[in-house]
Amino acid sequence: MSGIKIKGTGRFVPAKAITNEYLSTIVDTNDEWITSRTGIKTRFHCTTETHTDMCVGAARQALENAGIKPEEIGACVVATFSADYLSPSAGCMLQRELGLPHDTVCFDLNAACSGFLFALHTMECLLAAAPRKYGLVLGAEMLSRFINWEDRGTCVLFGDGAGAVVVEWREDYPSIHALLGCHGDPNMLGVTGAEKPAPARIFMHGQPTFKFAVQAVPYCIDQVLERSGKTMDDVDFFVFHQANARIIDLAVRKYHIPPEKYYKNIQKYGNTSAASIPLVISELHDLGKVGPGSRILVVGFGGGLTWGGALIEFA
Ligand code: ACO
Repeated sequence: MSGIKIKGTGRFVPAKAITNEYLSTIVDTNDEWITSRTGIKTRFHCTTETHTDMCVGAARQALENAGIKPEEIGACVVATFSADYLSPSAGCMLQRELGLPHDTVCFDLNAACSGFLFALHTMECLLAAAPRKYGLVLGAEMLSRFINWEDRGTCVLFGDGAGAVVVEWREDYPSIHALLGCHGDPNMLGVTGAEKPAPARIFMHGQPTFKFAVQAVPYCIDQVLERSGKTMDDVDFFVFHQANARIIDLAVRKYHIPPEKYYKNIQKYGNTSAASIPLVISELHDLGKVGPGSRILVVGFGGGLTWGGALIEFA
């Protein structure tokens, strides 16, 4: 046995809220459509804040919450595809801003909306070999820089934000039993890159992505329970990637998950890709809905296509 548990959580969201009413003044949309199709009411976009500011804000809060000092961190992984620079990575910028030791392994990882789960699994593997057994895992996105304002099907969905957890690796902790997968598809959803002239823009075929998501969620839940040898009753809280309230509602109905065991904050933040899962975890922690001893089943899905699930406990 060996694995990681969460010691502390933090988050940062930029100041500027973008309401559905405001969007309806710049594109052909309305609050009724956005709310009924997605559950989103507001999302936040960076104006003066940078991606690095968001990472630093979330990471500092997580360190303080965990009672861990930067010099105790052995590895730092940031799940993102929207950092301030293609290089240096957001991880390297965090090393600088937080004063992490120079031998701390710091890097970024891109698995779109599943990125935080890929980063948690990577951290569990990394810390096994690291000299210091605390790790920083972030999901951070500044998607506002990629929004295609000529596509009403996507421009209403996405927001900016960052969430962070400090994890501790120990030989007597259980593994998070991560299940991760991908199916390479450059056409379904993503951000245009080197193959297209700048600027990079988000694209998505909504309906097939929706179908993919509603299959990926139960697959991940079933696989994680099977791998960990746990049942639905062993799970204290279910945390889903916040892409669409309807996707969460379908999973909740399928598994008869009671209201006190899941949470939605998509109405406030929209889809923040890799940041969405740690934003949920951090809010739940602050609300006292999860804490020492809690076991959460986390599910993500998104561009790539990618998907992932894990069972993670709080220390
Ligand atoms: N306002 C008003 N009307 C709109 C808007 C809008 N913002 N956007 C689209 N419409 C219209 C369309 O033009 C279409 O009109 P038509 O019937 O006259 O042609 C109609 O609404 C229906 O459009 P659909 O795209 O079929 O709408 P759908 O019900 O599928 O909802 C949505 C779209 C919300 C995007 C949904 O498909 C979805 O949530 N998909 C999954 C998203 C997801 O899970 N993504 C994965 C993670 S994201 C990542 O990894 C970065």
